[in-house]
Amino acid sequence: MKLDIDDDIRKAKTIPSKFYHSPKVYRKLKKIFNRSWQFVGDTDLLEKNNVHPDILLEGMVDEPYVLTKDGKNIRCLSNVCTHRGTIVCEKATKTKNLVCGYHGRQFHIDGKMKFMPEFEDVENFPSKSDNLPRIEMDLWKKMIFIINDKKCDISELIGPMIERLSWLPIEEFKYKPEMSRIYNVKANWALYCDNYLEGFHIPFVHKDLNQTLEYDEYFTEGIDNTVLQIGIGKDNENTFELPKNHQDYGKNVAAYYFFLFPNMMFNFYPWGLSVNVVKPKSPEETQIEYFTYVWKEELMEKGAGSGLDKVELEDEEIVESVQKGIKSKAYDRGRYSPRREIGVHYFHKLIQKYY
Ligand code: FES
Ligand SMILES: [Fe+2]
Repeated sequence: MKLDIDDDIRKAKTIPSKFYHSPKVYRKLKKIFNRSWQFVGDTDLLEKNNVHPDILLEGMVDEPYVLTKDGKNIRCLSNVCTHRGTIVCEKATKTKNLVCGYHGRQFHIDGKMKFMPEFEDVENFPSKSDNLPRIEMDLWKKMIFIINDKKCDISELIGPMIERLSWLPIEEFKYKPEMSRIYNVKANWALYCDNYLEGFHIPFVHKDLNQTLEYDEYFTEGIDNTVLQIGIGKDNENTFELPKNHQDYGKNVAAYYFFLFPNMMFNFYPWGLSVNVVKPKSPEETQIEYFTYVWKEELMEKGAGSGLDKVELEDEEIVESVQKGIKSKAYDRGRYSPRREIGVHYFHKLIQKYY
């Protein structure tokens, strides 16, 4: 399928609608997701337990991994037993060794094969291929990112975010499981991202949020593999106290919304950070995981970063409506507002670039 997104937003048409529901397109996207850095949590995950297993984007990448820690070292390993392929660790725990529950193969916490029953007569055993392979991992402050098929450094993805926001004391931000959420949306993952990437719909869909933001000053810019949107508050309450030398100093910034291609949203508010990971489950099903990190709890019920549940439900409703619409025989492609849909256009060009 040719996406044919013109570089000039004034001439461009949006992505052909088939992209948002075709199983064939969905399968082809696996390569993009395999090659993308994915946020999986922060190093506090390994405070109490030193082993933390999960599956990387289940329904798209489907890679079982396990984060392990000993001393200060954290790494990410394949969670697939090198004997016959069982999942080694089933749940987060504290342990010295990883032991496969099928035939008892043991691994050191760093993935090295340590012991296997009934293998005395096996030739060239153990060899390197009996160890659990590493999965590439990198950190931004305490935030953990992993990648299945590394083709670029993490800095190529998060560079623009670091440049703008490294002054924030992310290490002090506390993950709050009770404020974190999982939402299931009956729509394609990219439709969910399209919607996130424009503030155009805010006055129509989010009447409450619109009360707090200055619509005409909403700012959007595509930078490398990211899209930055800045929400400007109506007054100077509930906005960031920016450092004097900051490029946005003097503006009433109520929220920095960073989209990291292809599927992550880092939303910074004066109270902290909401990381939203958009997880494709099938061509027409998506799960959104909200990781809530609190910095200044007393600011949570104010401004653009308050009432996020309500905003989410308003977005889901509209995106599910689009999913029904794009399958119509009568619709294929639309056009962009050059003023209000810069982010959507930029995202579509990135999809075109990597697809
Ligand atoms: S599959 Fe793990 S020990 Fe056999
Ligand atoms: Fe929205």
